Amino acid sequence: MDNQLTIALSKGRIYKDTLPLLEAADILPLEDPSKSRKLIIPTNQENVRLLIVRATDAPTYVSHGAADIGVAGKDVLMEAPSDNLYELLDLQIAKCRLMVAGPETPKPHGHRLKIATKYINSAKAYYAQKGEQVDLIKLYGSMEIAPLIDLADKIVDLVDTGNTLRANGLVPEEHIANISSRLIVNEHAYKTKFNQINEIVEKFQSAISNT
Ligand code: ADP
Ligand code: PRP
Ligand code: MG
Repeated sequence: MDNQLTIALSKGRIYKDTLPLLEAADILPLEDPSKSRKLIIPTNQENVRLLIVRATDAPTYVSHGAADIGVAGKDVLMEAPSDNLYELLDLQIAKCRLMVAGPETPKPHGHRLKIATKYINSAKAYYAQKGEQVDLIKLYGSMEIAPLIDLADKIVDLVDTGNTLRANGLVPEEHIANISSRLIVNEHAYKTKFNQINEIVEKFQSAISNT
């Protein structure tokens, strides 16, 4: 189908927070991805479907044109910039901060600072700009554990309420970037499906400014 529009979303907070925007654009998913195992979700509009992907994969689908548009966190876009896509809107959802955090009482250490993070490139750029040499340790999640068991001195991670840090005896130390999710659009699709995509962009935009 030529006018088929495919939207890449991750389940969890991005899906939940994008739902009201989709609704404002008259796009109603026919299944709830938190209940269904289905990864391609049809909508009330016959030519619009949702792809349920990993949060870090959404830009890949859009970049390759496997999805026409999608939603991705700025943290993901910063960490691994993709070609062939536009970042068209700040959706003002899934807001948090990328921060350096460490133990309430830092332990003395006689080595270069060790930083555990899943945001290796963003952390590298941050410490380079500070002129500080650090050792980076790649983790895929639960970063908060690393300083507790001396895998690292500090972490670079997302912070919202600070509850996760607090629960693990860590405190936020340095602010790196404000994060929110963005509407990303495949460059080629933006040309060939301009009217269809632009209508969604405009409806999202007015829904955002009304909140
Ligand atoms: P993942 O399984 O990759 O952790 P999430 O749904 O937790 O997926 O995160 C998706 C996006 O939501 C992240 O890329 C980030 O932009 C944002 N995010 C992550 N954690 C939080 C949080 N605690 N509060 C607000 N936004 C968050
Ligand atoms: C995210 C992030 C932090 C936490 C911060 O984890 O990785 O651990 O939220 O939020 P807070 O400051 O409000 O505690 P998430 O909830 O996405 O769990 P995950 O490990 O499954 O990604
Ligand atoms: Mg998460």
